[in-house]
Amino acid sequence: MCGIIGYVGKNEAAPIILDGLKRLEYRGYDSAGIALYKDGRFHVVKQKGRLEALRAAVGDTPLAGRIGIGHTRWATHGEPSDVNSHPHLGAKSRIAIVHNGIIENYRALRAFLESKGVVFSSETDSETVAQLAEYYYRGDLMDTVVKVVNAIEGYYALGFMCLDEPDRLIAVKKDNPLIVGVSKDGNFIASDVPAILSHTNQVCYLADREIVVLDADGVAFYNMDRERLEKSPETITWSLGSAEKGGYEHFMYKEIMEQPRVLRDTIRSALPDGSNAAVLDSLDVASFDKILITACGSAYNAGSVGKYVFESLCRIPVDVDLASEFRYRDALIDARTLVILISQSGETTDSIAAMREAKSKGAKVLAIVNVVGSTISREADYTVYTLAGPEIAVATTKAFSAQLALLYLIAVRFARALGKLTAPEAEALVGEISELPTHVEALFAQIDRVQYYATTCFNSKSIFFIGRNIDYAIAMEGSLKLKEISYIHSEAYAGGELKHGTISLIEDNTLVVAISCCKRLAPKIESNIVQVVSRGARVLLITNDGANPGAGLETGTGAESAAEEAAGARQFTLTEPTVNELFSPSLSVVLLQLFSYYVAANKGCDIDKPRNLAKSVTVE
Ligand code: M6R
Repeated sequence: MCGIIGYVGKNEAAPIILDGLKRLEYRGYDSAGIALYKDGRFHVVKQKGRLEALRAAVGDTPLAGRIGIGHTRWATHGEPSDVNSHPHLGAKSRIAIVHNGIIENYRALRAFLESKGVVFSSETDSETVAQLAEYYYRGDLMDTVVKVVNAIEGYYALGFMCLDEPDRLIAVKKDNPLIVGVSKDGNFIASDVPAILSHTNQVCYLADREIVVLDADGVAFYNMDRERLEKSPETITWSLGSAEKGGYEHFMYKEIMEQPRVLRDTIRSALPDGSNAAVLDSLDVASFDKILITACGSAYNAGSVGKYVFESLCRIPVDVDLASEFRYRDALIDARTLVILISQSGETTDSIAAMREAKSKGAKVLAIVNVVGSTISREADYTVYTLAGPEIAVATTKAFSAQLALLYLIAVRFARALGKLTAPEAEALVGEISELPTHVEALFAQIDRVQYYATTCFNSKSIFFIGRNIDYAIAMEGSLKLKEISYIHSEAYAGGELKHGTISLIEDNTLVVAISCCKRLAPKIESNIVQVVSRGARVLLITNDGANPGAGLETGTGAESAAEEAAGARQFTLTEPTVNELFSPSLSVVLLQLFSYYVAANKGCDIDKPRNLAKSVTVE
């Protein structure tokens, strides 16, 4: 989960690489570095900290050259420091590399190289690649890359430069993303499209263990036997504007506000003639007797919502499993299991491994992915796309909402195909789902209230989220969102489970966020609220008029409810439009996202790049 970029062409490389790194910073921001070739040597600048620190360092060190590589790091092996930053050079400074991934056998390789007298300068696994490449180098960089790939284990996207072959870059990947951009002014490697989109929208995708050789005039692809491969560039249709802040203070806020549009596009894609329709039509739903949903993080939370929806509409057993657990648990699945794999990036290592594990057991994999051309999108048996566009904030919002929408529509389709819904019933549900974007727009009228309430609780030490049934599933997402961007400890509990232990953590003024949008369960969650309030908790209730008649849809600043709270009510209510309870998570989550956002903003947190995290988790 680092970002890499490389350029060779007619222009100065440093500005191109630094600009690309800015757009890759979401992948890791512990340190950054750049290496350019010029006049017979490498010019390297590496800096601990954000990219700005590197920019400042480069500012004092004139960097020239038309070929170079850059890296933004999320530290795994070796602390964040200048010396552990990439690019790494071999001991003779003949070969420079950048690496995203983990070299799992680096200890053995390092010991071997040290026994040959090689002196390492960093603690990283990645430096092993640079040292190994120099050790193998006999005047042919491509041959060296093949030998390195044969020696290393793990996962990687690697870019190489060599002093003796100063006009070309070579790159290779396994299990981690790497794209190749082509243009008349030069050619690129990068971890992701936005890094190069201001220079070209012509992109080729590398498969595992394919090698690309780039010079200023073109790119050539090879397999590990050095046989030439033919690849034609694909055109990226979205613009860089969609990966920029557009006047908002944070990407997260912009992405929250984009949700009505994202929902509309994604919903349309799954309707007849939509871009996802053909893939969904091709699924033989009746051939499955079980569904297993697997994913990581927020995508797992979307899957947890999906379980309720699929079981309720399709009456088919659904398991939900964390991809990192599923991959090692020897799950009981076979050709009659449909595995639904959810991933925004399509590059999450645990999710990729889960997909491969499922396929090896004969199950069919339907992937719900946001990034076109990603590993999961290419390897799954069936792939449908969320139409969220590039999501830059590390905390997912719009991609999550798009995942929910697709899950609902897939469930309705399956239910129809299985004969569990009549055509008019299915049509009515699709109609309700199609209304969600408008309801989300209506929710934005409560932003002032959410913002106000966040000012009263950003000092909390711990915040609990409770809900029952599908409200519990979305409570998990609310809790994850809050903790990842505000660093406030938080946990989500099924309302009925509190009394079995967690209630001992409730003390005076502990905030409990209660989600209650299922009418039939509202009295139950109300009891849970009474239980925590009587132990000193204050409550933020997220509900609708259906579950809590009279809740209304309050707008305003919240000051009036503040007065009420001060007068001892101990409860503040945010109300959403009443919709089918299966689809209410799409509304609750928007309020939860806004709440987390404002809590984090009040604390002055780095909202788009929370500490220790990265957008795309390409390590185990
Ligand atoms: O790209 P993916 O959807 O596979 O990523 C999965 C998780 O890493 C991701 O959802 C993570 O939990 C987000 N930071 C949550 O906001």
